[in-house]
Amino acid sequence: MRITSYGHSCFLIESGEHRLLTDPYLTGSPVAPIASSDVRCSYIFCSHAHDDHLGDTVAIAQQNQATVVTAYELSEYLAHLGVTTLDLMPGGGLTLPFGQVRLTPAIHSCSLELGEGRNLPLGSPTGFLFSVEGKRIYFAGDTALFSDMRLLARGGLDLAFLPIGDRYTMGVEDAVTALEYLCPAVTVPMHYGTTKKLYGDPQVFTQLAQKAGHSVRVLAPGESFEL
Ligand code: NI
Ligand code: MN
Repeated sequence: MRITSYGHSCFLIESGEHRLLTDPYLTGSPVAPIASSDVRCSYIFCSHAHDDHLGDTVAIAQQNQATVVTAYELSEYLAHLGVTTLDLMPGGGLTLPFGQVRLTPAIHSCSLELGEGRNLPLGSPTGFLFSVEGKRIYFAGDTALFSDMRLLARGGLDLAFLPIGDRYTMGVEDAVTALEYLCPAVTVPMHYGTTKKLYGDPQVFTQLAQKAGHSVRVLAPGESFEL
């Protein structure tokens, strides 16, 4: 399968006819390599409702007739806007045409920005555990380090997407500890460099991770690799 970075926490996973998109923050993202109107996908996985993750979910879902997979409360909100959704809660999973997906916990917050400094709490922040072509992929979403990541490693992981930007999520040192718990065959860092506030450095992460025996693939926005 092919993995492509669209910057921040947005990735496209292509497996045969299936095109899976994570956290489609493109409009307004200073690093987006593609316009939201050019994205083609069949499923969108939205980890939480913050603007830099919910992003262009509604527009992309509607123009592709894609299904959005997300936690219950955000699913209800999107369904009300006319989007096709599948709701889950952490620990629960679904078998879908591309394989399987399970919702995982994340330590973060989840709210909709209403403008004028107001935020509406909206369910739980999450991550995703995918099984595609027999490969297991963990997309952590926005999260702090938590030791129960060990549980997600059961059965092995072929790929992990981990936030390293710091300030709002794990920074590089905690992300290296996460690798100790997760032991993925390869890790793609995410959620860094989009703004100055996300100062975690992918080169520092790569050095520390490699020193601890882990393999890292840094993807520039627009870059792909075969898993
Ligand atoms: Ni967030
Ligand atoms: Mn974020």
